[in-house]
Amino acid sequence: MHRFAPQILTVVILLLLVLPALRGPAPEAEALRENPSRPELATAVGSDDLFLVFSINNVGYIDVCGCKRKKVRQGSLTRRAAYIHQARYHHDNLVLLDGGNTLFGPDDGKKKDFEKQQLIDKAKVIIESYNRMGYQAMVVGHHDITLGLTQLREFEALATFPLLSANLVYADDRSPVFGATTIIDAGELKIGVLAITIDTIPTYYLERANSERPLALENALETARKWVPQLREQCDIVVLLSANPADVNSAIATEVAGIDIIVDPFIELGNHKLWVDDADSVKTVGETILVRTDAQGARLGTLDINWLAEGRPMVSLSYDSTPPEGRSTYWYERVSIEPHLLEDPEIVLLMDAFKRGAGFVPPGKLPELSQKDNYLTATTCSVCHVEQTEFWSKTKHAIAFASLEANNDQWRQDCIACHVLGYGQAFIDPADAEPYKNVQCENCHGLNPNHPRDPVKHPWPAVQEISCLVCHNKNQTRIDFVFVRERPKVACPLMPRN
Ligand code: HEC
Ligand code: HEC
Ligand code: HEC
Ligand code: HEC
Repeated sequence: MHRFAPQILTVVILLLLVLPALRGPAPEAEALRENPSRPELATAVGSDDLFLVFSINNVGYIDVCGCKRKKVRQGSLTRRAAYIHQARYHHDNLVLLDGGNTLFGPDDGKKKDFEKQQLIDKAKVIIESYNRMGYQAMVVGHHDITLGLTQLREFEALATFPLLSANLVYADDRSPVFGATTIIDAGELKIGVLAITIDTIPTYYLERANSERPLALENALETARKWVPQLREQCDIVVLLSANPADVNSAIATEVAGIDIIVDPFIELGNHKLWVDDADSVKTVGETILVRTDAQGARLGTLDINWLAEGRPMVSLSYDSTPPEGRSTYWYERVSIEPHLLEDPEIVLLMDAFKRGAGFVPPGKLPELSQKDNYLTATTCSVCHVEQTEFWSKTKHAIAFASLEANNDQWRQDCIACHVLGYGQAFIDPADAEPYKNVQCENCHGLNPNHPRDPVKHPWPAVQEISCLVCHNKNQTRIDFVFVRERPKVACPLMPRN
């Protein structure tokens, strides 16, 4: 060990000397520096560069869903953190923002009481991971208040970054519930961030979120009108985190001067776009660029900005033309959170602790399972349908539980329902899970508890597409499910009939 120390030291010193030279300045930057006809550009390189990174519509995701392993392998907070860490090494002025609908997904509001503890634990993993990554602001999206304002306040207390909404107010006196803006110092630049929540949340939803003192929302466009001018005055760059539909955000860009960037969740016809096509990922309206990226943490949006004083509005840098003189430029790119990225060890630990699932079942709080007796399980069917059972046991449906166990995900309520029979109906407690593991006969054929007693009098209807779609659901698997193509792979052999 001792003998090698001096050599290692030499190598390290050499590397330290060589590395900066190897990294060097980017060729464009070099060209700008050496351009004597454009002296103003020389000062622009360096401290006025901004690297703006954002996520949006995380909808409660903490990892890559295993269901996507084959075709979609992106996502996970562990890798996102590793990417951010890497990006900070390359960019002095990195600003990290979240465009809302972060902690919960669309169906989480409908979850039963026994599922809430785990939802809360998962949201904490998200907040703690965001703290570690160094997030600087998050807009409150409508899904974020799905478990109520009191709950969201608990998350806010854990967060080292502000939760913002300029238009979420108390219905009684219209006073704000959260801060409206934050100003971030990034090197020499001041970045003004304004946050606006979707303004069409139904009243009952807002009242339910805080029944003692109901909430309300101010109009998004009016809110932008009110706040943008003062941010414009105080800041170099104005960013609007607007968790609103695409047409509302376009209207804001058209009618409110002075916004440089809108982080747009890309809601069209009432629906969030989970996956954004390249052509839709960035759009310019007047002086404002609207940037979009995919949901579930699959890809982050990044804007590499070269900022010049008086250089507004920004223009896109492109390979084939030099930007107009004196204008600030941006390069927009979505970064795919791919498996080759390392995993942040501290977030891995958070995730493992979550999976060990202390909060899986709140003791003593389990509801009555009135449907339990209607589930017969494959063991019962196998007695009479030997051939079909044998066929089924060779399909992946019969090992669906093992697929969860492989990563210790088997007790996660955001996973289990599609990998077992009758979750929440036949069993809840892991101790009772054994007969219900895997995708079984009744997942496809349905319930028919009297069939064994008198099979002729209690026949089954043909298996319909709808029974597959419960699980083969594009939000979850991102794979197009074509019933006629998939059905033959899992259809059991027919019974001999005369
Ligand atoms: C309760 C949820 C659920 C239902 C209902 C369901 N599946 Fe699946 N399916 C799964 C899961 C989970 C897997 C992956 C299992 C694994 O690899 O661990 C899967 C895998 C498959 C596969 C790959 C099978 C193989 O052996 O390679 C096909 C094909 C398939 N399902 C078709 C269907 C069809 C057709 C239906 C409806 C008739 C259906 N599934 C109903 C959850 C379900
Ligand atoms: C909405 C239903 C649903 C939920 C929820 C769900 N899965 Fe799946 N899962 C599926 C289906 C359907 C497949 C089969 C996909 C296919 O092969 O077409 C699958 C397949 C898988 C596979 C096998 C994939 C492979 O490529 O080998 C794993 C592992 C898995 N899921 C893990 C998870 C984990 C972890 C979670 C929770 C984070 C989860 N699933 C939540 C429906 C679901
Ligand atoms: C992935 C869905 C799926 C699963 C799981 C499944 N089956 Fe089937 N099964 C089918 C389909 C599809 C058919 C074809 C007949 C139809 O469309 O209804 C079929 C056919 C059958 C038939 C013959 C029906 C006839 O009209 O002759 C029997 C019996 C049967 N299944 C029993 C079982 C048993 C027992 C299990 C569990 C061990 C099981 N199935 C699991 C989808 C499934
Ligand atoms: C006691 C034996 C027995 C058990 C247990 C049993 N079946 Fe059957 N099943 C039969 C007989 C017999 C028929 C044929 C009825 C007929 O000819 O009309 C049949 C028919 C079927 C059919 C063909 C469609 C129909 O109704 O004719 C399906 C599908 C089926 N069973 C599924 C299941 C499933 C799923 C289970 C477990 C939940 C199951 N069976 C349990 C005896 C049984």
